[in-house]
Amino acid sequence: MSLPPTKVLIAALPAIDMKVLGIESSCDDTAAALLGDDGRILSSVISSQDLVHHRFGGIVPELASRSHIEVITAVVEKTFHRAGLELADIDLIGVTQGPGLIGSLLVGFSYAKALSYTLEKPFVGVDHMAGHLLSAFLEDTTPRFPYIALIVSGGTSALFLVKSFSEFSLLGRTRDDAAGEAFDKVARLLDLGYPGGPAVARSAEHGDPAALTFPRAWLEDGSSDFSFSGLKTAVMSQRQQQNSERKISIPDLCASFQEAVVEVLVEKTIAASHQLAISSIVLGGGVSANQALRSRMSERCRAEGKQLFLPAPELCTDNGAMIAYAGLKIFQSGHRGTLDDDVFSRSHLGQ
Ligand code: KG4
Repeated sequence: MSLPPTKVLIAALPAIDMKVLGIESSCDDTAAALLGDDGRILSSVISSQDLVHHRFGGIVPELASRSHIEVITAVVEKTFHRAGLELADIDLIGVTQGPGLIGSLLVGFSYAKALSYTLEKPFVGVDHMAGHLLSAFLEDTTPRFPYIALIVSGGTSALFLVKSFSEFSLLGRTRDDAAGEAFDKVARLLDLGYPGGPAVARSAEHGDPAALTFPRAWLEDGSSDFSFSGLKTAVMSQRQQQNSERKISIPDLCASFQEAVVEVLVEKTIAASHQLAISSIVLGGGVSANQALRSRMSERCRAEGKQLFLPAPELCTDNGAMIAYAGLKIFQSGHRGTLDDDVFSRSHLGQ
């Protein structure tokens, strides 16, 4: 007698030996997730602070840490409730140790230490960047080492060579603004609201990317560094001209700005993959939710014979699952956190 399909499915899933709680509070999202040691996400909860910071047009660090304190217990409880698990069921806690806003980081890190102490379960501190770099492993189709990863968020724009779960080489990073920061600043200049990236992207959908020619900072030959501050200044000067001399459509401005950011991000990633003869590319960080970036990177990878791994948008933005996964890998390499560990504001990963 054949089993009903659901039973076959359950029987086919391997048993989970370890359950990991991931906690993320580095910036303005309070997130937690429960993960099996096979990378299966059992539950994931993200509480956004967009409404708290909206009227300021950017993140106010003091408000961010207070908001984390207000919601962290509820976020963790909801994560356990959704997975149908109890606190005692977990074997490990992975928590973001840095980089980020110190006040925000301290909330999640202290919470994780307290849980670890009371439950008598180990914890490990995770570099937020490692979470983004490994987030592609949370999908069904996973990359093979080595691969190039472009991580673009509100705080970072960086290219890494990822050689294993613990070996990362920084190939280049922004010398001034991060790509997401440039999107946020341009949105503020154009009064489009906060968070700026999605607002600029929405406006760009109705604009012509070739309407205005903005500068591309390619920097020195072969450099994998980025620079976006000149681009932001160019948008500001176009905006001022618009006020005094002529009418420029905001959608055209947004589409032309986005085009300039996307072209540099994509071409520098492809160039790095050629220089190092790497065939797999991974995209991560909040800006990788940008549709123009996703389609351009897909097109260029197809044309250049590279395999692109694009995690789902909810795995590209800050989340607890990527921290749980990176924490599991750190734990499996033998590392354990101690109660003396402290948070850090800047990452030195891969340097
Ligand atoms: O990784 P993330 O969620 O958080 C941190 O930076 O810590 O990234 C947030 C950044 C913000 O700057 C936001 O404006 C940008 O990602 N972003 C986007 C889009 N969605 C979010 N930028 C461009 N297009 C988008 N669709």
